[in-house]
Amino acid sequence: MSTRTPIVAGNWKMFTTAADATAHCRSLAELVADVSGVEVAVCPPYIALEAAATAAEGSGISVFAQAVHEAAEGAHTGEISAGMILSTGATGTLVGHSERRAAGETDDQVAARVRAALDAGLRVIMCCGESLEQREAGATLDWLTGQVRAGLAQVSPDEQDAIAIAYEPIWAIGTGRVASPQQAEEACAHVRSVAAERFDGDGLRVLYGGSVSPDNAAELFAQPNVDGGLVGGASLDPQKFAAIVRAGAPD
Ligand code: PGA
Repeated sequence: MSTRTPIVAGNWKMFTTAADATAHCRSLAELVADVSGVEVAVCPPYIALEAAATAAEGSGISVFAQAVHEAAEGAHTGEISAGMILSTGATGTLVGHSERRAAGETDDQVAARVRAALDAGLRVIMCCGESLEQREAGATLDWLTGQVRAGLAQVSPDEQDAIAIAYEPIWAIGTGRVASPQQAEEACAHVRSVAAERFDGDGLRVLYGGSVSPDNAAELFAQPNVDGGLVGGASLDPQKFAAIVRAGAPD
């Protein structure tokens, strides 16, 4: 039996103002107040991090950014650093989401950004996942091997607890076309085995993401190698997200 505590994280993407985030976190805190055994995180846009962190204080809900730049400061218009994220009260960040990779984020940048986040004391959820073409070509597991090895290239074995990896097939993100529990299990088990080249592997949290909803979450999260989920669309509704959090809690 694994002793891993699942994580259910809500990726709000480019939705919500600071005022929305305050209301959202307050209602989420009430909705999940009686849930235990699962870690809850929300990932608001940068401008709402501080409001979310303030509203979530004392609730046990963690606040993560959606991305981070590897430099501590500098001439990087539109970017923000790990130290800046930390200064908002947020305690972690996503790195390498497929929407960031599609906008040009490279494997090397993902590795450097994971490193910069950890150096600043932030926790990290690093994302990986294949395209539909890669899946149909039978290239999924090789692709994940490359992304996981590259992303963890600068991480040391004793940092496992500060990192989780989210497996998010690109074809399942925002499409309503969720991976089957078997597909999620196979990929998450593979991610864990690749990460085990660096960590002990068994203690690493590996999440599934891509069209997770209250209807499919329990079956996905019941897979032995799926330790919760990264949730986009359904996380914008506190009721739906709370139902998904409950699906991640141990029986
Ligand atoms: P989705 O997004 O749940 O809307 O598919 C998941 C994600 O992008 O993290």
